[in-house]
Order: sequence, then C-alpha cells, then structure tokens
Amino acid sequence: MGPCQLFVSLIVSTFCHVLSTTAWSVNNFLMTGPKAYLIYTGSVQAGAQSGMQECKHQFEWDKWNCPESALQLSTNNGLRSATRETSFVRAISAAGVMYTLTKNCSLGDFHNCGCDDTKVGQIGGRGWIWGGCSDNVEFGENVSKEFVDALETAHDSRALVNLHNNEVGRLAIKATMKRSCKCHGVSGSCSIQTCWLQLSDFRDVGNYLKVKHDQAQKFEIDKRRMRAGNSADNRGDAFSSIAQSELIYLEDSPDYCKRNVSLGLHGTEGRECLQGGKNMSQWERRSCRRLCHDCGLKVEERRIETVSSCNCKFHWCCTVKCEKCTQVVTKYFCARRDRSRRPTNSARRRNRVHDG
Ligand SMILES: *[C@@H]1O[C@H](CO)[C@@H](O)[C@H](O)[C@H]1NC(C)=O
Ligand SMILES: *[C@@H]1O[C@H](CO)[C@@H](O)[C@H](O)[C@H]1NC(C)=O
Ligand SMILES: *[C@@H]1O[C@H](CO)[C@@H](O)[C@H](O)[C@H]1NC(C)=O
Ligand SMILES: *[C@@H]1O[C@H](CO)[C@@H](O)[C@H](O)[C@H]1NC(C)=O
Repeated sequence: MGPCQLFVSLIVSTFCHVLSTTAWSVNNFLMTGPKAYLIYTGSVQAGAQSGMQECKHQFEWDKWNCPESALQLSTNNGLRSATRETSFVRAISAAGVMYTLTKNCSLGDFHNCGCDDTKVGQIGGRGWIWGGCSDNVEFGENVSKEFVDALETAHDSRALVNLHNNEVGRLAIKATMKRSCKCHGVSGSCSIQTCWLQLSDFRDVGNYLKVKHDQAQKFEIDKRRMRAGNSADNRGDAFSSIAQSELIYLEDSPDYCKRNVSLGLHGTEGRECLQGGKNMSQWERRSCRRLCHDCGLKVEERRIETVSSCNCKFHWCCTVKCEKCTQVVTKYFCARRDRSRRPTNSARRRNRVHDG
C-alpha cells in the first residue's frame, strides 16, 4: 500500500467516525501500512483538516464555501474537476499538511527530524548570522509531497494542474516565513544578531493563498499537443509559461448558487449572511445580497436564543458560581422565496398608496 492509499484511507476513516460507524477500522490499516509512514499519519490527517478549516474561514461569506471535509479530496467527483476553487483546496491542503508536519518536527514530535541548522554560523546579511533553530520546512515539504501528491494517480492535464497547485501551496509556506532575531554584543548593544526562520501563523498562509485564488489564471491546454508524443516533454513545454507561485485552473466554475449533489455543492440556501453589524467590511456588508438575493433567495431573519454563564462570583474557597443568562440574537439566513404568496411589485405599490 502506497502513501496515496494511506492518505485516502485516513480521510475515509475520519468520515466514518463522523458518521459514527465503525465499519472501517483505521487500526486494521495501521497494522499493515508501511512502517516508514506510520509515524506521520496523525499529523497528515490533522494538517489536511486544518487546511479545510482555513478554507472555511477564508470563504465564510462567499457563495462557494469549501468542501465539508477533506474527504472530498479523495473522491472522484467534484474535486477531480480543476476549477479556480478546487485549485485553492489543493493548495491549502498541501500547505496544511506541510505546516503541521513542520510544526510537529520543531516541537520534537519525531525522533528522526529536528531544526534546520544547515546554515548556522553563516553570514545571512548585514549585521546578522544564521543561528538558533529554523523551522525545518524541507522535512514538512517532503512528507507533504509523499502523501498529497501521491493522490494524483492519473497522467492527464488535470493531474498536472493539481500537482502544480499543490506546489503553490507548499511555496506559500516558505513565502510567508518570518525571520526572528536575537541581539548579541556588549550590554545589549546588538552589534551582531543571530537570526532564524519561523513559520508564520497559518492564517497568514490562508490570506496569501486567498489572494492567489483571486488572481488564478485559466490554463488553456493545447489538447493535440498533449496527446501527441512524450507527455513529460509536453509537460515542461506547456508549464514553462506559468509562474511557479500562481494558481491555475482548467474549467470555469459551476453555479455555486445551486445545489448539485453530483458536484458536491450545497448551494447557498440556508447559509448565514450578515446584516446591520456596526463594524463590517464592504465584503461582509454585501454578504446577504451576494449569497441570497443574487441567487434568487430571500433573507430570513431568525431570532436565536443562546444560554451562557454570566454574573459569575468567586466564593471562598474555591468555587465559582454563575447564573444562566439567555440572550436573543438576530441572525440572517438565505431562504427560498415563498412563490405562492409573494405580492407582485405593483400590488405592493398599491398597498403603500392605501397606507399613506
Ligand atoms: C502534530 O500536530 C498536530 C496538530 O498540532 C497534532 O494533532 C498531532 O497529534 C501532532 N502529531 C504528532 C505525531 O505529534
Ligand atoms: C527531502 O527530500 C530530498 C529529496 O528526496 C532529500 O535529499 C532531503 O534529504 C529530504 N530532506 C529532509 C529534511 O527530509
Ligand atoms: C450538476 O452538474 C452537472 C455538471 O455540470 C450537470 O450536468 C447536472 O445537470 C447538474 N445537476 C443539477 C441537478 O443541476
Ligand atoms: C473595527 O474593525 C477594525 C478592523 O477590523 C478594528 O481595528 C476596530 O477596532 C474596529 N472598531 C470597532 C469600533 O469595533
């Protein structure tokens, strides 16, 4: 069993867990999987999930709102297509796996991996030398390649595009790394500094890739050339014009307003949107128009009661007693229009005249 099947199996087992079925036991697999990969499986799974979480955050107020779980990465529909959105999913997943593995490594979770100290002692720039413990991104990169790229078993143009976008995700980790430094010298004069490279917050990686998503380019494949002759040569040819750090896609996006089960799309019916908030960005302020009205849906107001702890008091010694407070918040959701009773515009206008 290769790393590909390993990755797929893990994701499937997560899904089974969600459904509370025990039909598939990850343990069966762990007994038979290749030893070299076993120590990374938990981290790979955690990394793929954190990629999906970041996707949900980045696209919270967009019509398209990311796959429910990393599961859909492994299924043959939906994400086998190569749209602008799936290019983002590819990149953020590959990045999430690389990020988590690198973090794990720095925390000493793996005995076969530690800091990247290959440059320690070398001059880095004016007034600083490499020192300390840089995050070992090369390790995370290698393992991410082993697991995520191995999902791509086909040898068609989609596979090439997917592999390219995986790589964009891994480059994003490196592009967002930050230099941290420490001062040395007599009584903190800072005449010389030692510096090392650290991972940014994963949020920074998400922000970076969201911009790449917005700038993604459609890749027009010359099908005749792809079919003829040596595909490896053509790959080099066709891809030489594309910047390494840019996301690419092959197909136009479907209509994300509409539910389409075979594409794994939920549509925007039932989605929350924002209204009336004091401190919202332009993008948030227009979320109801974008998610509901533009999709032929209406905005439905719902009053939601939440119960939380409040008026907590400390009693000597040592308990905290709280009251339960109910709070009613108003939230807005996209809902289907009630066609049978919807007044026409002219009827509404007549009513207003009567009222006035
Ligand atoms: C790696 O980090 C993730 C996320 O912090 C954690 O869930 C996972 O257990 C870690 N893996 C190992 C092998 O320590
Ligand atoms: C990553 O992979 C490359 C190429 O396979 C290898 O030369 C290198 O030693 C690996 N680095 C780490 C840190 O695992
Ligand atoms: C779902 O999408 C596929 C592919 O675009 C299309 O052929 C099909 O008609 C769609 N189904 C619905 C119910 O819209
Ligand atoms: C509004 O949002 C900005 C940035 O999100 C923040 O810096 C600012 O403090 C907020 N203002 C209020 C009144 O909440």
